This record gives sequence, C-alpha cells and structure tokens, in this order.
Amino acid sequence: MDNFLDDNLANHLKENLLLLFSEKQMKIAGIGNNSKFQQDKLVRSDVIYWLDRKHNNASENSFFDLIDEFVQYLNRTCYSGITGYEFHYAYYEKGSFYKRHLDQFRDNQSRAYSMIIYLNPDWIAEDGGELCIYHKDTAQIIAPTNGKCVFFKSEELEHEVLLNHKPRMSITGWFKTN
Ligand code: OGA
Ligand code: NI
Repeated sequence: MDNFLDDNLANHLKENLLLLFSEKQMKIAGIGNNSKFQQDKLVRSDVIYWLDRKHNNASENSFFDLIDEFVQYLNRTCYSGITGYEFHYAYYEKGSFYKRHLDQFRDNQSRAYSMIIYLNPDWIAEDGGELCIYHKDTAQIIAPTNGKCVFFKSEELEHEVLLNHKPRMSITGWFKTN
C-alpha cells in the first residue's frame, strides 16, 4: 500500500532514524533468536534500533497509535488474533543487502505477519534496494518508496532485499499471535 504513512509522519520518523544512526545507536542485526543469534554479515548488512513507547517520542507514539488501530481493524474484520507486535528502525548503508530468507525463527512460531514501511523520499529506480518477494513461480519487485507499507504472512513468503546504491531507511515489524 502506498501512503500508509503521511509525508509528515514519515519525515519525522526518518529524522529520528538519522539521528539514531549519527549517534551510533543503531546496532548490527542478528539472524535467528537467542542461542541461534549470529551476527552474520554475509546474510544481512543493515543496522537496527527497536522502537518503544517508553522513549516518549511523539512520532514513535503516533506510529504506534496507527499500528494499534490497524491491529484492531485486522482482529475485528479478519479474526487475525494478533496479541502483540515489535518494530525496529533499519538503516541500510549504501551497498547493503539482506539475502533471501523467511522471517519466522525456526524455534518460535509467534511471528505471524511481517510489515515493512519505507522512509525514503526521492527514491529512484537507479537507487536499487528493492524488496524482492518470492511467490511460487514468480518474484515481485517492490521499490522502497516513501510511506509505502508491505504486509504479508511471515511463514509463507521468502523475500530478499537487493543491493542499494544509496542509504535506505525503513521500519520493520512483526505481529504476533499466541
Ligand atoms: C527484514 C526484511 C525487508 C525490507 O527485515 O526481515 O526482510 O524491505 N526487510 O527492508
Ligand atoms: Ni525479512
């Protein structure tokens, strides 16, 4: 969906992200959880920072308000049974990637849906960094343009982030069910 975030909120979240990056608060992301946690730069090369209402940041809270509304809507209309979520900022420096993967951890099925929201004004085709979603016989290529939201079932779709040629910013999250 285009325009999931309006330009104003997208811009404020992007400013937060850039500040966190310049303060070196964003950390290398791992693959898998707990015991399987490894910092494998051959698989992904982004850095992340988890959002939290405890930060008392106006834009983060507006973002969570929007997500809360979305969860209520999904649970009411689709009986999706979402009971929680987690979201992090992600910064892909020029020349980053995330190889083909499934978002669910092998030993924990609680991640039911994945969501990615892009914070990249003025993104053009030459900048690369597309999200590639693998369907049965085809691949879907999605440009990470500002305010766009991608939402899918975590256990069903393998996907990949292609090489980007300029910094690429996003918020990525997972909706959990019991
Ligand atoms: C992820 C992921 C896709 C993207 O963080 O698991 O697949 O487009 N991100 O940033
Ligand atoms: Ni993923």
